[in-house]
Amino acid sequence: MKDEILRLLKNNKDEFLSGEKIGEKLGVSRAAIWKYINVLKEEGYGIESVPKQGYRIVSVPDVLTYEEIKEYLSTKFVGRNICYFDTISSTNMEAKRIALKNPEGTVVISEEQAKGKGRLDRNWVSPPKKGIWMSMILKPETEPTKVAKITLLGAAGVNKALEDMGIYSKIKWPNDIVIDGKKVCGILTEMSCELNMINYVIMGIGINVNMDREDFSENLINKATSLKIEQNKEINRKELLAGILNRFEEFYIPFKEDNEISEVIEICKKNSALIGKKVRVIKDGETKTGKALDINNEGQLIVMFEDGSIENIFSGEVSV
Ligand code: BTN
Repeated sequence: MKDEILRLLKNNKDEFLSGEKIGEKLGVSRAAIWKYINVLKEEGYGIESVPKQGYRIVSVPDVLTYEEIKEYLSTKFVGRNICYFDTISSTNMEAKRIALKNPEGTVVISEEQAKGKGRLDRNWVSPPKKGIWMSMILKPETEPTKVAKITLLGAAGVNKALEDMGIYSKIKWPNDIVIDGKKVCGILTEMSCELNMINYVIMGIGINVNMDREDFSENLINKATSLKIEQNKEINRKELLAGILNRFEEFYIPFKEDNEISEVIEICKKNSALIGKKVRVIKDGETKTGKALDINNEGQLIVMFEDGSIENIFSGEVSV
């Protein structure tokens, strides 16, 4: 009911709608309408109420609810079920908790995370309404070994959605998006599986959207940045979030149906922050130095080490 009232108000932005008229259209009493209007006001919607004229919407809050992003969304299933929180410990943890009971494409979003999780047990700073902190629930019918590719689909999705908004970034294989060498986005993919069957995959994406310098600790500010800092302006989080979901689904369907990721590999190669650079690869506790040569059709990073050996890196920490 609340969403329907909101829809009516949004569709009639320039005029007042009386409680009586809304009530008639939706088949509920004026008193009920008044109650829902108050809930909407509490959620941050600016609604003008004028006696004898009715209600008019004057502003919408900067929130990542389904109601607010749906006008930008063109997906079939990704993001069509959104579990929204003001605050939560970690969207990845919540997504894992609800994964089995929710359909593929469900997205858990929170405006803030108290215990945002990064890779290698690091924490992920997630202040309220300054970023996009979300986790997608995916259920691909493929072998667990193919899951590493999903991170690349996510990275390509973020890179392309940013480009659609005129923001140019690079992909630091396989999990990070960087601008000018500084990290703006990290991806944490986790999965629950049997020997040869996936129960679910959780792809957590954290994007520093409208964070200011003060939001980063001293040791982070040299390594991390936000879109707002780089672009010198506030970025529309709703448009970006929907753009990522749209682009991700565009890449995910061919992967799921035909194991097809050639477009994604092209994007990862073309926008790579590593190819041609000297890299350090940390694997099984050991650090080796080499040069990143390419990304192969399987999405693995090809590295030539100092001893001349060439290896396809499947996963692991890579730094420049
Ligand atoms: C990294 O270390 O680069 C990965 C960071 C992933 C952060 C995101 S924010 C949304 C989701 N929920 C979490 O707790 N972590 C991921």
